[in-house]
Amino acid sequence: MSTLPVQPDHAPVDAVQTTAWKALSAHRDEMLASKACLSDWFEADPDRVESLSYNVGDLHFDLSKNLLTKKTVGLLCDLARDVRLEEQRDAMLSGEHINTTENRAVLHTALRRPATDVGTLIVDGQDVVADVHEVLNRMYAFADQVRSGSWTGVSGKQIKHVLSIGIGGSDLGPVMVYEALRPYADAGIDCTFVSNIDPNDLAEKVRGLDPETTLVIIVSKTFTTLETLTNARAARTWLLDALTQCGAIDGSEESRARAVAQHFVAVSTALDLVAEFGIDPQNAFGFWNWVGGRYSVDSAVGLSLVLALGPERFAEFLGGFYEMDRHFAETPLEQNVPVLMGLLNVWYVNFLAIRTHAVLPYSQYLHRFPAYLQQLTMESNGKHVRRDGTPVTSATGEIFWGEPGTNGQHAFYQLIHQGSQLIPADFIAFVNTAHPAKDGEQDVHELFLGNFLAQTRALAFGKTADEVRAEGTPEWMVSARVFEGGRPTTSIFGVELTPHTMGALIALYEHITFVQGAVWGIDSFDQWGVELGKQMARQITPAFHDDEALAAQDASTRSLIEFYRAHR
Ligand code: F6P
Repeated sequence: MSTLPVQPDHAPVDAVQTTAWKALSAHRDEMLASKACLSDWFEADPDRVESLSYNVGDLHFDLSKNLLTKKTVGLLCDLARDVRLEEQRDAMLSGEHINTTENRAVLHTALRRPATDVGTLIVDGQDVVADVHEVLNRMYAFADQVRSGSWTGVSGKQIKHVLSIGIGGSDLGPVMVYEALRPYADAGIDCTFVSNIDPNDLAEKVRGLDPETTLVIIVSKTFTTLETLTNARAARTWLLDALTQCGAIDGSEESRARAVAQHFVAVSTALDLVAEFGIDPQNAFGFWNWVGGRYSVDSAVGLSLVLALGPERFAEFLGGFYEMDRHFAETPLEQNVPVLMGLLNVWYVNFLAIRTHAVLPYSQYLHRFPAYLQQLTMESNGKHVRRDGTPVTSATGEIFWGEPGTNGQHAFYQLIHQGSQLIPADFIAFVNTAHPAKDGEQDVHELFLGNFLAQTRALAFGKTADEVRAEGTPEWMVSARVFEGGRPTTSIFGVELTPHTMGALIALYEHITFVQGAVWGIDSFDQWGVELGKQMARQITPAFHDDEALAAQDASTRSLIEFYRAHR
């Protein structure tokens, strides 16, 4: 029986009580009182861009269009020191049980450590890097078999489709990266992802799939998730019926078991439950309870990616994470990009009362990146108590959202430009594109990048009333056409969206999330907030048909179920 975690013997440092927090509050008051704006800061400091720009590998970061000065950066780094950020980071990296409410280590960074690190990280008696590489090697060997055609479906046909079933961290990462790295899918294997328990999701996704050439991956850390297990059973029924119908199997128990063995694999930490489902443990790829679901795309959870992209590309992907991990672990605070971006978010949330943060990729391939980041950031930092169970002492967890540019420009950017609230935004763009195109003489990618640059410039520097007037605008309309500017953005400019860059970007946001959680003193690695809804769904569902269960509901739920009953 597992023992319940004990309360940590000391409370996290209360950031709000630190000297740096007080200094930051005074600094914020001075800043607001001075009414100085971004344009003033650019004018006053010719080195501003240089001193607020950083490079990590192939990624260039420009933080200069944010609402901060060098003094702000200094004070934020003081805050990091006051809350012992570096000690907290090192505790995570060395495998201490920093996930206090689950009494677990938090070691997603071990997933990308090279094989040469075997023997250097022993946690709870396990050589975690050796374990990681043992599973990676099995994944790579399996992918080689599938990609080369030596692993086939039950009728001997080569696998062409992967149907991946999972939800949350067992889905969002693989979908996002698959979409982002489509140009690197080189083996003629396409992936389809099913997550929602809404039966329409599976029904639409299997439409047109050839069962003889489809491999199903069931991805679930716990292997107990209602959505995933329901969809897994439905997928098994679909596949076995379809194989029987097309004559690939005769429908006997023996033939069905053979089909499951050839067409189903699983990824989980609960290999006993995988076996109970009927999947041969030989066809299962494990990971560990020290990998949080939302931090797991670089574990066996990324198996669909290894199949589509190949082991070499997946290794490059891990290399990108590792590069950012090293930067995070080894760079002084003042030059450490995830630290600075995390502290900047704290500045916005806690000192400028900002509640949302946009992520706007200027790359269609990154169209699922904001959705991926929503789980990473909001499941991690949407917390109301600290690691020792005491209430938080400041706001936590802003809302992350976004869509790729330029689509967003024609939808919600109006509110970012002229709305009554400030919305910091991360713009992500790449110098090179997978599909260069010309429109006449015009390079279309440059047109696209021109939009990225125009938006960040317009948001920062705006347009004054005099400039509007000079265009001959009638006086009554001048105010409507003024852009105040001073709208904060970070520009992340990469050379190209490669597997390596993708890994580095994910690790960047993982560490930003950690930094914010560390300042707030919260456990960024549990997710108790999603449990109540799961329990209630189990308790409410019988009420659709059972009067006693209906009577046990609150008045509103009862009335909604009565509507259902009346119209079914
Ligand atoms: O409901 C939240 C959650 O626990 C996530 O943290 C997790 O990524 C997801 O459900 C899926 O869980 P599992 O991988 O165990 O099926």
